[in-house]
Amino acid sequence: MAIQSVGVIGCGLMGHGIAQVAATGGCEVTVVEADPTALDKGVKRIEGSLMKLVEKGKLQATEATAIRNRIHPSTKLSDVAQCDLVVEAIVENLDAKKSLFAELGRITKPSCILASNTSSFPIGEMGDASGRPQRMVGLHFFNPVQLMALVEVVRTTKTEESAFKDAFEFGKRCGKTPVAAKDTPGFIVNRLLVPYLLEAIRMIERGDATPEDIDTAMRLGCGYPMGPLHLLDYVGLDTTQFIADGWERRFPSEPLFKVPGELKDLVKQGRLGRKSGRGYYEWEGDKIKGK
Ligand code: CAA
Ligand code: NAD
Repeated sequence: MAIQSVGVIGCGLMGHGIAQVAATGGCEVTVVEADPTALDKGVKRIEGSLMKLVEKGKLQATEATAIRNRIHPSTKLSDVAQCDLVVEAIVENLDAKKSLFAELGRITKPSCILASNTSSFPIGEMGDASGRPQRMVGLHFFNPVQLMALVEVVRTTKTEESAFKDAFEFGKRCGKTPVAAKDTPGFIVNRLLVPYLLEAIRMIERGDATPEDIDTAMRLGCGYPMGPLHLLDYVGLDTTQFIADGWERRFPSEPLFKVPGELKDLVKQGRLGRKSGRGYYEWEGDKIKGK
């Protein structure tokens, strides 16, 4: 089945990007946000991103207008009832996700594929909560969605082959290279990336090096586009803490998943990274101040 209509739930950092790439792939997209201010901000980000792509000659102005017109913002979950696929991109909280999937299982059509963009939680638990585990997959996009070329497509032991295949094709239609992943903590990328990010924080706690020097070292020593502290600010320190908190609770004896005290302190102070204007760095809009 070719996916024509897509619901995206959550229009934050990830949801707005997923809505944009799905509409760029030709789908009609309904993006639902609980917070009207966040919805407005997310739609403005989509418009700003499309404008930037036009300015850079990567998109025709007429095509940008057509993409924007395929995106239908809403604050009502019932507006996704007829969609072929619904992708969840709300806060990284398993209880919130499970209750959303329970509702989606009730209101969407039986053939609808249900997908989560979770960074760390078991897709299977959300599938069970939906009452339709055979139609549940993970579709894990990367930040910034418009620029990152990968999507992980996660299947559980209960996912039907047709749902997995259609989700995989949808990833391609969004302009991404899909890879198949199992329902393991962090799938492929985050299983490697998140322990690395947490260890960078522990290096600072130990006084091994400054954030600036760690970032310079990893950029120049490994050729990474961003160092780990810059990336933590980019991802959101709150989201990183939600990921690590969940893993530490589920795997208390795994030292790689321990939440560093400094991460908790920074989040408590509201230093969430780019989204709050300050994390390890000070931010002006989408750029680190002075860079
Ligand atoms: N839409 C359109 N254009 C955009 C854009 C967007 N959303 N975001 C940035 N751009 C543009 C920029 O404005 C810039 O344009 P100009 O050249 O005209 O200034 C251009 O794209 C390149 O951006 P930058 O100048 O910021 O520079 P860059 O070359 O460093 O590229 C980057 C940016 C692609 C983000 C790169 O730094 C990078 O790959 N960083 C690593 C990101 C990463 O690792 N992401 C994964 C995070 S982990 C995750 O997502 C999983 C999870 O579950 C937590
Ligand atoms: P975010 O805080 O920027 O956005 C989440 C949005 O969801 C908020 O605007 C919030 O108002 C909205 N929301 C919360 N509950 C809702 C509900 N029940 N219905 C509708 N909207 C609701 O978070 P984000 O960074 O976009 O992360 C979203 C998901 O994507 C998380 O699961 C996260 O782990 C995952 N993810 C994040 C990144 C990243 O780099 N930040 C990368 C890949 C995956």
